[in-house]
Amino acid sequence: MSKKLTDKVTWVGKVDWELKSFHGDEYSTNKGSSYNSYLIKDKKNVLIDTVWLPYDKEFVSKLKDEIDLKEIDYIIIQHSEVDHSGALVELMREIPDTPIYCTANGAKILKGHYHQDWNFVTVKTGDSLDIGESKLVFVEAPMLHWPDTMFTYMTGENILFSNDAFGQHYATESLYNENVDNAELYAEAIKYYANILTPFNRFVTRKIEEVLALNLPVDLICPSHGVIWRDNPTQIVEQYMKWAADYQENQITIVYDTMWNATRIMAESIAAGINAVDKEVTVKLLNASKEDKNDIITEIFKSKAILIGSPTINNCYLHSIGGLIEMLRGLKFKNKKALAFGSYGWSGESVKQLSADIEKCGFDLMNEGIRTLWVPDQDEINKLKTFGQDIIKLM
Ligand code: FEO
Repeated sequence: MSKKLTDKVTWVGKVDWELKSFHGDEYSTNKGSSYNSYLIKDKKNVLIDTVWLPYDKEFVSKLKDEIDLKEIDYIIIQHSEVDHSGALVELMREIPDTPIYCTANGAKILKGHYHQDWNFVTVKTGDSLDIGESKLVFVEAPMLHWPDTMFTYMTGENILFSNDAFGQHYATESLYNENVDNAELYAEAIKYYANILTPFNRFVTRKIEEVLALNLPVDLICPSHGVIWRDNPTQIVEQYMKWAADYQENQITIVYDTMWNATRIMAESIAAGINAVDKEVTVKLLNASKEDKNDIITEIFKSKAILIGSPTINNCYLHSIGGLIEMLRGLKFKNKKALAFGSYGWSGESVKQLSADIEKCGFDLMNEGIRTLWVPDQDEINKLKTFGQDIIKLM
């Protein structure tokens, strides 16, 4: 069902309440998502982005309820990823000559995905399209989060179409930020930033500074996922500036996995030590094999330090921690401290390996970590508590 945003702009996307994972299984979408597509009717008619491939027929059919497809003068594809370009093949079957406006990288990637020789018109920052009373101004936003990404600003209506930036994987029928549960919205927005945009912090800061310098009035920010920011729309821009500045809260996150609970007891003992000397700091314990991996990343994003624990198995550490380390390697967190811990029976390599690997991920190692032989007894638990207390001194 379409939804009118202004006299000229209508949301024609798809709310996907059933979506439970994204990017294959790399990102959990427990609250669903939406693929936001926008139809602009001025003297010229413009479609901005489409929806994910499984909904291509539904999208085109509903679009026909809004407009005779032949009356679409221009299609703008701000980003080629399949969740936004997926309905193009179905749409272009009906209007094969309609120009597709995108960046040069966008054209390359669309060709790489669909192997079609569509009528691409490539644009750069500052290029614009006169559509009647309004003008659409393009702003390239490479690596937010693909090399092809761009934003589109609509004059007159003061709308920033920001594609993935400022989005959230959050299904809602309510459309606007002021009409949804704001705690849920914040949780999904920070999860999205932490898991998708963290590696591109510097690009985010630079791009926002560049757009702010243009001093454009903004009444609506229309991302390609989740709600449209209408109530105080630039609040999400301010939030992005904070998140992009190697964000941290007063939080220490202890992520571990355990085979027979020895490493869990270590985690709890260290946490008790931290809490004994610092009542202010938030300490969270997350078992990597039981918790949602993207929620763990979000908690790490919020942390000033992480403790990562695994027993030794087959001269290595456990696979849940291995998967997490691989995610951390790609996300390139900065400004965070770390150390490792784990139980062992004989060879006991895990702590040394974890320390080396977490340091390679960009974390500042606080010390060489701590190991416990077999299961901690009371003396060992006391030692672990002291170890936890000492962490606060190292902060
Ligand atoms: Fe929502 Fe990068 O696609």
